Amino acid sequence: MHSARVLEPMNDSSQRKLIIAIDGPAGAGKSTIASRLARKLGYVNLESGAMYRALALKAIEWDASFDDEDTLLKMAQNSQITLERSIGGNRVLLNGKDISARIRERDVTEGASRVSVHPKIREWMVARQREMGVGGGVVMEGRDIGTKVFPDADLKIFLDADPVIREQRRLDQQKVKGASAQAMAAELRERDQRDRTRTASPLAAAEDAVVLDSTTMSEEEVLNRIAELVDRRLAARS
Ligand code: DC
Repeated sequence: MHSARVLEPMNDSSQRKLIIAIDGPAGAGKSTIASRLARKLGYVNLESGAMYRALALKAIEWDASFDDEDTLLKMAQNSQITLERSIGGNRVLLNGKDISARIRERDVTEGASRVSVHPKIREWMVARQREMGVGGGVVMEGRDIGTKVFPDADLKIFLDADPVIREQRRLDQQKVKGASAQAMAAELRERDQRDRTRTASPLAAAEDAVVLDSTTMSEEEVLNRIAELVDRRLAARS
C-alpha cells in the first residue's frame, strides 16, 4: 500500500539542514538549479514533478483516463514511486522499474499536467512529499512547494523567466526544430496555462518567496544568488 520514499544522500556533513523550496513554471531552469544547489550543499534534490509524471505513466500503461480522479488515486495508493539519488543524477522508479527517461516523453509530460489538477491526487502527493522532506537537507522543486508542501520552508525561491525564453530553452534542451518545435512550444504554453489556472494549488509565488527572474541571468548567476540567500539563512540560524 505504500507510496514514495527517497534514498539518503551520500554527503551528510551539514548539521543545520534546511528545507529549500524552488517553484516556478517549466523552462525557468528549476531542475538544473535545484540539482546543482543540492550537490553544492550535500542535500537531496527532490523533483516533485517526477511523481506526477510517474502517475501519468501508470495511467497510460493501465489505459486509465487522466480525468478519472478516483481511479488515479487508487493507482497512486497502490504504487511505489521512488525518487532515488544516484551519481549520474536523479533516478525515478515506479514499483522498482527505472522510468527516468520514459517520463520525459511528450505523452507523459502532457499527462502529468492533467493528473495534477485533481485535488485528491494533489493531497496524496503533498503528503508523500512532506514525508520525504520533513527531516530537512532537501532542495525540493515543483509548483506548490512553497505554498502547500512546505509553507514553513527555510528558503523559498520562485524562479521565473520570460515565456519566449522558457520555450526556447526547452526546445534547445530537447534539440527540437521546425514544425515539431512549434507544436512543442504550443504544448508548453497550454500546460503553463493549466498549471496557473487550476483550482487546486495553482502555480503561484508564495508571499514570502524570493522571486528571481532568470530571463537575462546565467545559470551561474542564479546559483550564486541562491547560494547567498542560503548562507544568510544558515547564519540567521546559528
Ligand atoms: O516539473 P515538471 O514539468 O516535471 O512537472 C510536471 C507536471 O506536474 C506539471 O505540468 C505540473 C505538475 N506539478 C505540480 O502540479 N506540482 C508540483 N509540485 C510539481 C509538478
